[in-house]
Amino acid sequence: MAEFAKGLEGVVAAESKICRIDGEAGQLYYMGYTITDLVEHCTFEEVTYLLLYGELPTREQLSVFSAKMRNARDLPEPVIHMIRDFPKDAHPMELLQSVVSYLSSYVEHRIHHGPHCNCRDTLHQIAEIATVVATYQRFQEGKEYLPPRKDLSHGANFLYMLRGEEPDPFEGEVMDKALILHAEHSFNASTFTARVVASTMSTCYCSISAAVGSLYGSLHGGANEKVMEMVDSIGSKDAARDWVHTALDKKQKVMGMGHRVYRAKDPRSFVMEEYLKDLSEKKSDWKYYEILKEVETTFRERMEEKGKPIYPNVDFFSGAVYRVLGIPTKLFTPIFAMARVSGWLSHILEQRVDNRIYRPKAQYVGHEQRRLVPMEER
Ligand SMILES: CC(C)(COP(=O)(O)OP(=O)(O)OC[C@H]1O[C@@H](n2cnc3c(N)ncnc32)[C@H](O)[C@@H]1OP(=O)(O)O)[C@@H](O)C(=O)NCCC(=O)NCCS
Repeated sequence: MAEFAKGLEGVVAAESKICRIDGEAGQLYYMGYTITDLVEHCTFEEVTYLLLYGELPTREQLSVFSAKMRNARDLPEPVIHMIRDFPKDAHPMELLQSVVSYLSSYVEHRIHHGPHCNCRDTLHQIAEIATVVATYQRFQEGKEYLPPRKDLSHGANFLYMLRGEEPDPFEGEVMDKALILHAEHSFNASTFTARVVASTMSTCYCSISAAVGSLYGSLHGGANEKVMEMVDSIGSKDAARDWVHTALDKKQKVMGMGHRVYRAKDPRSFVMEEYLKDLSEKKSDWKYYEILKEVETTFRERMEEKGKPIYPNVDFFSGAVYRVLGIPTKLFTPIFAMARVSGWLSHILEQRVDNRIYRPKAQYVGHEQRRLVPMEER
């Protein structure tokens, strides 16, 4: 009899070469490279190449790959119509999930590859998600479709489409690096979802669409939205200390703190914190940074008293970074999807190499066999 593990906690469901998390040391690796090295030296396109091919590209390989990805940014006319016609108050994640499936029909994979599309070559799924998210926001604001630019990085082009003007290079870089930080994180719920769907030999579009649905849930994406709600309700640095004490006395969770895997400060949160600091300096507005640091200090003091290894996770600073970049809160989770799609695709490809359809068991706790009572006797 197999052991029952609620939520599959602790169950090893596959072998994977993609991502390693060292929770005790607070380290994260993609294909063996530390996240800090990747952020320091690479672009999002370069990291996407790494996730899809397992190796960093040469200059030439990157140039071919980037060109392909940038050529795939623009949306086909019917997809633009679909975004325009989607119910206005639908959540952008609902739109994204539908659009990803729809995009599938615009790629020639059916003709050449059947359900096994050549997704490593088309790169539509990765490139177009940013355009869909930006276009959603433009239409919400009553603006026109703005075609993407090919001369900008993935992150900078996203800000360009959102704002209608080219961001300054540092802001473009911060956006691009934020995508790297969120690109991959092992067997989380959405990645597992992508792999389960891929294991049935479904298309990568259907697998990604399912993963988007999984990320939409409030227990997965969305923590940085909650952090900003917390920051807004605290209001000022001076109020932060009391706010944290009161929250902890009432046994409330402080958003952006703690992680299932990390028992040290999440390595991604260091990077986000530095970007928030730099952006605050540039804008001469330290409000969010000061509130968050006061929350962190007070929270850590309380945790140290109890010897609890609970530290900031990536979401603690990322919401404030996006806010300072002028991004509406509703787009935080779609941006997560924009980044994580590279990781999802990497896992879909890995799943296909040595596939076995996922089929765990359930422990049946229902009725024993029952006599069916005919309708007239019920
Ligand atoms: C992410 C999270 C679910 C991880 O959970 P976990 O490792 O299973 O930890 P648990 O929820 O079992 O908590 C262990 C203890 O630490 C406390 N704790 C964990 N995170 C906390 C937080 N953010 N604020 C206050 N207390 C926290 C719990 O209350 C619990 O205390 P207890 O032992 O007195 O009952 C949890 O830390 C959390 O809810 N964080 C806030 C939401 C968030 O930022 N999510 C984004 C994750 S990337």
